[in-house]
Amino acid sequence: MINITIIDQDNNEHKIELDENCGLNLMEVCKTNDIDVEGVCGGMALCATCHCLVESNHKLEKKQDAEIAMLNQCFNLEKNSRLSCQIQVSKEIDGLNIRLIGDY
Ligand code: FES
Repeated sequence: MINITIIDQDNNEHKIELDENCGLNLMEVCKTNDIDVEGVCGGMALCATCHCLVESNHKLEKKQDAEIAMLNQCFNLEKNSRLSCQIQVSKEIDGLNIRLIGDY
């Protein structure tokens, strides 16, 4: 099991324990835990409604071209911006802390 923290857009902190082999991405983790995230495109890196900031010092997998292109269209792009649908649950994200900011 791994533990992550998700801060929603109302600044509520959600501590979540996950099976590292659950096969979900973090947008899906939000949805399955009733954390408000739109995820309009269903995780295809085409909407940025799942935009988040990575607030812990994790070295995540590199962004794919589609994620980079989508993030570059965000108004509130930061150095630590990611699309939560492009972060898969794995043991490497144990202790991860993200803040959902969305982009509409
Ligand atoms: S759900 Fe659309 S980009 Fe993540």
